[in-house]
Amino acid sequence: MIIAIDGPAASGKGTIARRLAAHYGLPHLDTGLLYRATARVLLERGERLDDSSRAVSAARGLALTDFDEKKLRGAEMGEAASVVGAIPEVRAALLDMQQAFAARPGGAVLDGRDIGTVICPNAPAKIFVTADPETRAQRRALELAKRGERIDYASVLADIRKRDERDSGRSSAPLLAAGDAVRLDTSTLDIESAVAAAIRIVEERRSRA
Ligand code: DC
Repeated sequence: MIIAIDGPAASGKGTIARRLAAHYGLPHLDTGLLYRATARVLLERGERLDDSSRAVSAARGLALTDFDEKKLRGAEMGEAASVVGAIPEVRAALLDMQQAFAARPGGAVLDGRDIGTVICPNAPAKIFVTADPETRAQRRALELAKRGERIDYASVLADIRKRDERDSGRSSAPLLAAGDAVRLDTSTLDIESAVAAAIRIVEERRSRA
């Protein structure tokens, strides 16, 4: 079974995807890491994030095994990933890797921005995870503080709004709920309730398949 999870930054989609993967014993791919890792290669080489051909070669050079999550999770890399993710050729370069992961025997859980719409349009279970920007900013500020990054709430909220706008407004594979995705608003839910709601959605979809 393929489970496709999409949603904006800090909506809870990563946690939900990880927990669903554990619950169903499926491998999980956080596709944001691909864009973050591509951006990191460019930054390390001192290259521009919007240089399409260099960004494509950075994306093509990635291997699923060389993600140092600690270095990729920060706020700066999230913003850089959003810039790189707006380049259609980069998205095309990362397509096969994601679809190959989804095609594993037994299925997989993938989370990102375009999983239900572009990467796995035939996934039987699709969830679009949302939460209001203020709640997401609070969560992200807490998460960054735990990582030792001192960023105030107002800048985190501004960053989230900017990223929402870029990710939703781009021409190639914008952040969008697939027509057959179930929306899950986590604004007033704690992690356990959000995961339980996600499992109910998957079970409902499974019973129909
Ligand atoms: O999910 P995340 O915060 O790690 O993603 C970082 C950025 O990467 C996000 O703002 C846009 C880009 N991204 C994307 O364009 N498509 C995806 N499937 C995943 C992430």
